[in-house]
Amino acid sequence: MDKRHEAVQRAGDKQWAALKTPTDLESEATRNIAGALNAILADVYALYLKTKNFHWHMSGPHFRDYHLLLDDQALQLFAMTDPIAERIRKLGQPTLKSIGHIARTQRILDNDAEYVEPGGMLAELAEDNRTLVARLREVHGVCDESRDIASTSLIETWIDESEERAWFLFEASRR
Ligand SMILES: [Fe+2]
Repeated sequence: MDKRHEAVQRAGDKQWAALKTPTDLESEATRNIAGALNAILADVYALYLKTKNFHWHMSGPHFRDYHLLLDDQALQLFAMTDPIAERIRKLGQPTLKSIGHIARTQRILDNDAEYVEPGGMLAELAEDNRTLVARLREVHGVCDESRDIASTSLIETWIDESEERAWFLFEASRR
């Protein structure tokens, strides 16, 4: 590293030190938990927007039911975002900063299709919510290993809510 680069790095470290929150958890543990939770946060934003996308572009004879169901689910997903981000900051770690940051971090795939038929929308969201459940279970394990009880307790509620969304979507799409 050259001198100028080193100076920039030192200034960055100093500024970052100002954002560190004291915690009794090991710093390696907080980095691992934050990494896992930031990925979940990006997935939740992606799923929130996909749910809204399908809410806005719903069609067909069940329009009202599905349109309202997806709005309820979008609200629930959006309500998860602030507690996830603040949990990460309570551990003294940085969280997401922009739409670009979400796009680089999300694993849930966007659906930019011109038209998606209603059954396809419900099936895709059900699958995404089941994937979210599986990932939340993994992160629960990461938090549990470091005895981050506050995170595990929040995650348990988010798993229950995600299972509920998957259940409603499954029943609504049953033929
Ligand atoms: Fe709406």
